[in-house]
Amino acid sequence: MTAVTRVMDLLQEGTSCLVAAGVDSPRFDAACLLALALPVEHNQIPLMLHDPVSADQRDRFQQYLQRRCQREPLQYITGKVDFFGRLFACDRRAMVPRPETELLVEAVTTYCQHHCPHAAIADIGTGAGVIAISLATMLPAAPIYATDISDEALKLTAENARLHSAPNRIELLCGPYLDPLAKMGVLAEVEVIVTNPPYVATNLFDDLQPEVRDFEPRPALDGGHQGLDFYAHFLPQCRQLPRLRLLATEIGIGQAGAVTRLVSEHLNPTEIEVCPDLAGISRVVLAYLDQTHT
Ligand SMILES: C[S@@+](CC[C@H](N)C(=O)[O-])C[C@H]1O[C@@H](n2cnc3c(N)ncnc32)[C@H](O)[C@@H]1O
Repeated sequence: MTAVTRVMDLLQEGTSCLVAAGVDSPRFDAACLLALALPVEHNQIPLMLHDPVSADQRDRFQQYLQRRCQREPLQYITGKVDFFGRLFACDRRAMVPRPETELLVEAVTTYCQHHCPHAAIADIGTGAGVIAISLATMLPAAPIYATDISDEALKLTAENARLHSAPNRIELLCGPYLDPLAKMGVLAEVEVIVTNPPYVATNLFDDLQPEVRDFEPRPALDGGHQGLDFYAHFLPQCRQLPRLRLLATEIGIGQAGAVTRLVSEHLNPTEIEVCPDLAGISRVVLAYLDQTHT
C-alpha cells in the first residue's frame, strides 16, 4: 500500500529542492507554488499541512517547482505580483515590478495631491503598468500617459488597466522616450514625468541573479555604459515640456550623484531631492522645476 502524500510532504520536498537550487526564500516560494497547485490562498497552507493531495495536484506542483528550480521568477510562475497594495498580472512580457518602485509612486502621489491633482502625468517605460495604474487610482483627476518601446509590455499594461478598471484613464503609447507624446501633440500638456528606466550597467549584467539575467526582458534592465544611457536622450527631450514641474526617476545603487548632476545640467531645477528606500539606498531622484527652464 502506498502512503498518502500530504501537503506537508510536498512543502518539505519543495523547500529542499529550492534550497539546492540556490533560491533565496525557499520555504516561502514552495508554499506559494503549493498554493497555486492546490489551488488555495497562500495563507491557507499552514492550516492544511495534514491534508492529502491528489495525483493531479502533485503533478502541477512538480511542474511549478521545476520551473522555479531553473530560477524562473516566482511572479512569472504565479502570474501575479503585489504592488502598492494591489495585485497585478505579471509575465515575461515585462520586468517584474519591484517593491522599491512603490517609493516613486508614493512621492509622485504626495506631490500631485498637494500641488497639482489635475496635472497630466507621463510614465515613461511603463512595463507592466504598475506605476501608471497606481497613480491613476490615487489621482482620479489626472490624465495619464504610459509609454514603452515594447508592444508586448503595453499589451500587459492594457490587461492590468482593465483589471483595475482604469482603461479609460490611461493612454497607452508605443515608442522611445518622449517621442510618442510628441507624435500625439501633448508635450505642452504634460506637467509630471515619472520613470523607472533601464539602469543596470552592461558590464554588471552577467553578475545579476539568474532570475533577472535569464528571464526578464533585457531592454527593461540594460542601461548601457554605467547604466545611464537612457538619460542622454531623455533629458534633452524633457526640455521640450514647457509645463514640466516634477521629474521623478528611480535610480540604481550609486547613481544618485551622476543622475542629479545630469538632471541639473539639462533642466536647471529649482530643487533636487534624493529619497532613500527602506534599505537606506538612494533610490529616487525628484527634480522640481519652475516654468522657466526652457
Ligand atoms: C526598469 S523597466 C520598468 C518597468 C515598470 N515601469 C516598473 O517600474 O516595473 C524599464 C521599462 O522601460 C522600457 N524602455 C526601455 N527603454 C525605453 C525607452 N528608450 N523609451 C521608453 N521605454 C523604454 C522597457 O521596455 C521596460 O518596460
